[in-house]
Amino acid sequence: MGKTGKIKSDASEVGSVKVLGIESSCDDTAIAVVEDGRKLLAQAVASSAKIQARYGGVVPEVAAREHTMAILPVLQETLERGRIPLASIDAIAVTEGPGLLGALLIGVTFAKALGLGLKVPVVGVHHLEAHLYANALMEPITFPALGLLVSGGHTTIVFWEDHGRIRVLGETRDDAAGEAFDKGARALGLPYPGGPEIERLARTAATTPRLRLPTANLGPGSLDFSFSGLKTATREMVLAHPDRRADIAWALEDAVIRALVNTTGRALTQHPVPDLYLAGGVTANRALRDHMGELCSRHQVRLHIPPVELCTDNAAMVAALGYYRLGQGHRMDMGASPVTTYPLSH
Ligand code: KG4
Ligand code: ZN
Repeated sequence: MGKTGKIKSDASEVGSVKVLGIESSCDDTAIAVVEDGRKLLAQAVASSAKIQARYGGVVPEVAAREHTMAILPVLQETLERGRIPLASIDAIAVTEGPGLLGALLIGVTFAKALGLGLKVPVVGVHHLEAHLYANALMEPITFPALGLLVSGGHTTIVFWEDHGRIRVLGETRDDAAGEAFDKGARALGLPYPGGPEIERLARTAATTPRLRLPTANLGPGSLDFSFSGLKTATREMVLAHPDRRADIAWALEDAVIRALVNTTGRALTQHPVPDLYLAGGVTANRALRDHMGELCSRHQVRLHIPPVELCTDNAAMVAALGYYRLGQGHRMDMGASPVTTYPLSH
């Protein structure tokens, strides 16, 4: 059977399909090989986060240069780890957007070149949709479901009807949840990325008296978020309580989690479904996981959260989504460019 012929929507009929995923939309250069959209065979990641930390955030040009240097060694490392011959790859999936243009270009160009060289199909995938597919690496997705994507650039609640059928129910009107952590961390003098730093510091906070930061009220039925006010509020709190850094970290974490949990609760009331899938870097947060667990038991909803290493940017999620996109007949045009503005609903 030819390599393109192996890629059908019903995997049970066609045997195993190995998709090589490539992720380069932000500061991680990641490559993974996933079998049949489910089984992670090998992955490797090179992160420029440490270099970016010097600048307090991601500098697009720095990210692009780091991807250029890392992508070939990361491919080699992935294949060596899984003892996977390059010739056994059946298809390539790559994040085509949204993200930083220069960063995306490295991944997309590399994917096209590899696809041409290996004579296998290439498919472009949506970065946020791919985050949801980290869940598909654990168990088959049960539709219909709700999805909550919380990353450094996005905070979005979706109605997930089926593979390839997603509708945005609500999203942030300004900063993303991860951005609130990153900017709050900067106000506290903590390095980038701020989320893990805030989480660590918050653990040492005094239990009484607690400090509180406000969450935005966007109207009774709204499923949108707004986190930009937290940045100023955190800065003001640091000036008012310079000796209570841990308590401020806790207050910031608490405010972000409250907004996420309350709005997700509202979404579950408006759209009752049996399953909720979390995704994105912020989902690595322990307290968020615990509070979402409580919310879901109140709503009698099954909660799915990928393991921490699959919550942050990775290529396994890209390969998993790519498998389904290929099955639906999608192929990347060899003349296609990355898509920096890319609506999620489809
Ligand atoms: O999904 P991701 O790896 O990259 C994209 O933005 O696409 O998410 C990164 C974001 C950063 O803002 C980082 O501060 C946040 O996820 N993050 C966390 C934690 N780990 C990463 N936020 C809160 N708690 C964490 N443990
Ligand atoms: Zn991401």
